[in-house]
Amino acid sequence: MKNIVVLISGRGSNLQAIAKVCAAEAWNARVAAVISNRADAAGRDVAAAMGIATEVVDHHGFASREAFDANLATAIERHAPDVLVLAGFMRILTPAFVRRFEGRMVNVHPSLLPAFAGLHTHRRVLQAGCKLSGATVHFVTPELDHGPIIAQAVVPVLADDTEMSLAERVLAAEHRLYPMAVGWLVQGSLRVADGVVRHRAGAAQLLS
Ligand code: GRF
Repeated sequence: MKNIVVLISGRGSNLQAIAKVCAAEAWNARVAAVISNRADAAGRDVAAAMGIATEVVDHHGFASREAFDANLATAIERHAPDVLVLAGFMRILTPAFVRRFEGRMVNVHPSLLPAFAGLHTHRRVLQAGCKLSGATVHFVTPELDHGPIIAQAVVPVLADDTEMSLAERVLAAEHRLYPMAVGWLVQGSLRVADGVVRHRAGAAQLLS
């Protein structure tokens, strides 16, 4: 049985999507713990309702990013994670932390990376007049939002879209995409060569 540890800062809808599919598809894995850097993260209630243990490592309690990350890593390691999932975790991680979990740590970003890395994604997509957007699941590397891409989902940008309507459409795509990608990781279905991720059996890494 593999252990998945999920890091959150807020709502936890991706956490919920992953935990549901993990149970529904009877993966040989479980969400062993959800760790939040905020005590008020709504996702902690989501986890509790699903019977998943939660912990808080509050970044305010540490003098430096390094000290916070070291403490967070210790909390994570207690659950012997095979896969570490960032699901709306709003902290920049130090290179030392990233190296420790590299290859088993993934993130979802609400754009078609490498376009629109960083914050305010939907606003920037609308301002640029893009007709397509989407979500990307990628391995986490020290450079923010830049790791090898595991899978992407595309959604249309509609003429009357607002930031909110586009965000909703992308989030619904994330809820299909992220469980699929985490499932592949849990099952050992991925290989990475020269920074490019391929599914061993050739499954489509694009959802539309
Ligand atoms: C999502 O939009 C995701 O793309 C971004 O943070 C948000 C997390 O939402 N990284 P939730 O907490 O999973 O509902």
